[in-house]
Amino acid sequence: MTQISQAACIKAQALELERGERLLFTGLSFEAPAGTLVRLAGANGTGKTSLLRLLTGLMQPDAGEILYKGEPIGKLKEDYYKDLVYIGHMNGVKDDLSAIENVRIAARMGNIVAAREALEEALEKVGLADFIDHTTGELSQGQRRRVALARLFVSREKPVWVLDEPFTALDAASVANLAATVADHVRAGGVVIYTTHQEVPVDLPADACLTVDVSAFAPKKVRTPVDFEEEFHA
Ligand SMILES: Nc1ncnc2c1ncn2[C@@H]1O[C@H](COP(=O)(O)OP(=O)(O)O)[C@@H](O)[C@H]1O
Ligand SMILES: [Mg+2]
Repeated sequence: MTQISQAACIKAQALELERGERLLFTGLSFEAPAGTLVRLAGANGTGKTSLLRLLTGLMQPDAGEILYKGEPIGKLKEDYYKDLVYIGHMNGVKDDLSAIENVRIAARMGNIVAAREALEEALEKVGLADFIDHTTGELSQGQRRRVALARLFVSREKPVWVLDEPFTALDAASVANLAATVADHVRAGGVVIYTTHQEVPVDLPADACLTVDVSAFAPKKVRTPVDFEEEFHA
């Protein structure tokens, strides 16, 4: 296992975010020391994807800040981005390239140079062994998502992984491969922050796992006289 050289640590401090004139969350804080798996929980629309985007620096919070190794990510910029892998919903896979070319280029953009065997192995891990040289445009949505995910298998040296619903679109064997890679990454000192609808067992001690319930930071609904009236007659 490649040990991650410097202690990665993510701290979210009193984050507040408004989108579409709705306050999604306020006072959202958590601390993820090196070697932590953070699961973001909460119903649809509570702001999990939005929080992931804050954590990648793609969006700015309305209040609060995110620290990486004690420094605000907005100040670190490249020094943070170089340590980060983000796999979002929009998978960023280029239709006219083959599966393996896509993984190679995605890795390159993160300064990772991987040998052909490593790229093939990554595609095998996500169940795409038979599609390595297929043009990605010919693949299904689910398969394209797997091409995007394959990059994780060559991203072990990137301390911080931010993954939006990574297990969706994977078959059982690929879910197990990904869960094992995530567990390895956390054991090596990485920080993995993810959302999931499925209960996926990840083989890690309880003290390495943190669940952040985004809905717990939603603003409390202000009860109007009409609400009181309705509650009274309920
Ligand atoms: N591009 C957008 N522009 C404006 N509002 C948005 C946008 N995307 C999401 N939202 C709002 O943010 C809320 C949270 O969305 P999201 O972060 O995707 O939640 P989740 O991932 O928990 O389902 C949505 O209910 C919606 O109101
Ligand atoms: Mg989402």
